[in-house]
Amino acid sequence: MSSRTFFVGGNWKMNGDKKSLGNLITTLNTASLNDETEVVCGAPTVYLDFARSNLDARIGVAAQNCYKVAKGAFTGEISPVMIKDCGVEWVILGHSERRHVFGESNELIGQKVAHALESDLGVIACIGEKLEEREAGTTEDVVYAQTQAIADNVKDWSKVVLAYEPVWAIGTGKTASPEQAQEVHEKLREWMRANVSEAVADSVRIIYGGSVTGANCKELGSQNDVDGFLVGGASLKPEFVDIINARA
Ligand code: PGA
Repeated sequence: MSSRTFFVGGNWKMNGDKKSLGNLITTLNTASLNDETEVVCGAPTVYLDFARSNLDARIGVAAQNCYKVAKGAFTGEISPVMIKDCGVEWVILGHSERRHVFGESNELIGQKVAHALESDLGVIACIGEKLEEREAGTTEDVVYAQTQAIADNVKDWSKVVLAYEPVWAIGTGKTASPEQAQEVHEKLREWMRANVSEAVADSVRIIYGGSVTGANCKELGSQNDVDGFLVGGASLKPEFVDIINARA
C-alpha cells in the first residue's frame, strides 16, 4: 500500500434537492469517517453554496464543471473564481458525460484544467474509454491521449487527482473488475513516469470510477494503484460512508 492519501469523491451529478441533499449532508456530517481519507462531494452548481455552508469542514466540495476564463459573456457558464468565492476548493473536469453528452473535446478540457489550476482550484480530471474502444483494443491509446491533453496543461500536479472512469462502467452497474482497474491504473502511472516525472508518478492519486458500491469498494480499493474512487449513484446514499471507509 502506498503513502498516497486515499481520495473518495462523490459526484452527485444533476440529482437531489435541498431536502434530500440536506439529509445526505447530515448523514455525512454525523458519520464516523476514516480521517486518513480525503473526501470531496461534487454538488450541482446551484447547490455549491448550500453544500459548502452545510457540510462539515473536513469534507471538501467540488463543482462538476467550469469554464476556461474568469468572467465574461458566456451565458450559463461558471468560472473558477466564482467557485472559490463560494468557499469551494475543487472542480471535476472532463467527466465522460461532459465529453460524450455535451461534446467537450480533449482540447477544451485541457484549457479548463489550465485555468482552474491557475485559479488555485484542485482538479479531479476524468478520463476513460468507451466500450467499443475497449473492444477494439484501443483503451491505452484513448486514455493516454486524454491524459496527455490534461498533462500539457498541468504545472503543479499536487492539485490534481486523475480519475479513471471506463465509460461502460458508469451508471451501468457493470464495474471494472479489480484486475481490470489495476491494469489501467498501473499503465497510467507508468505513462506518468515516462512522460511527466518519477516523483509525480509516485505521488499522483489515480482514482477509479464506474459503479463503485459499498459491496465492491474494498476489493477495488486494495489494488496497489487504486488510490480512491469517484462515485456517482452510490454517493447519494448512506452507503457512501462505507465507500469512504473502504480502507478502514
Ligand atoms: P456511477 O458514476 O458510480 O454512478 O457509475 C460514476 C461517475 O460518473 O463518476
